[in-house]
Amino acid sequence: MKQSIGIDGPAGAGKSTIAKRIAAILQIPYLDTGAMYRGVAVAAKRHGVAFTDEAAIAETVASLDLSVRYSDSGEQHIFVDGEDVTGELRTEEISQGASLVSRVPAVRDRMTELQREVAHAQRVVMDGRDICTNVLPDTPYKFFVTASAEERASRRVKQLKESGQPADYETILHDIIRRDRQDSERAYKPLYCGADTKRIDTTDMTIEEAVEAILSEV
Ligand code: DC
Repeated sequence: MKQSIGIDGPAGAGKSTIAKRIAAILQIPYLDTGAMYRGVAVAAKRHGVAFTDEAAIAETVASLDLSVRYSDSGEQHIFVDGEDVTGELRTEEISQGASLVSRVPAVRDRMTELQREVAHAQRVVMDGRDICTNVLPDTPYKFFVTASAEERASRRVKQLKESGQPADYETILHDIIRRDRQDSERAYKPLYCGADTKRIDTTDMTIEEAVEAILSEV
């Protein structure tokens, strides 16, 4: 196993922006594992399966053809049953759906297997919820990137407004807190910061400072 870099943390903490920059600087691929769980949620929606129907979700993932491919410019795309669903991953419904389907052990085991295959083939930067505790527990480069829920909600509001979309702070804060709870309180492989993982609180930090903090360790 190559010495990949694992970055875990709650939704909206800036993990993906940080992970992408580190990957670009080190010139290694970046794997957004949340997008894979989002792909499972898209598949469930297409098959008319409720995100909370754990038995049907397990059945869906058993026969699911999910793959990660990279475009020539290095962008990650998620394919479900041969179709590129990348454009469908970033809605609030799919965010919530991904958090719900990720509770199902059969889903987690399948995604873990796919993620390990990627890390076996090459050194990567991977971000998610269980990378340091479950997917790549043996890598020496483990980070937990977090920020207060209020700060994460403010960043999201700013991001949505900048792209001309409506954004209500209270609704977004509520969704973030609900997803934090689901991700960290699920029974199987929940989100937590392991004892051997470096915690980076970005509440009062810029992205550049967080990137620096990680690069200084690798
Ligand atoms: O990082 P994200 O917001 O795109 O992730 C969407 C959901 O997927 C998240 O709420 C929980 C789940 N997830 C997970 O359980 N394990 C991972 N390694 C990545 C994401």
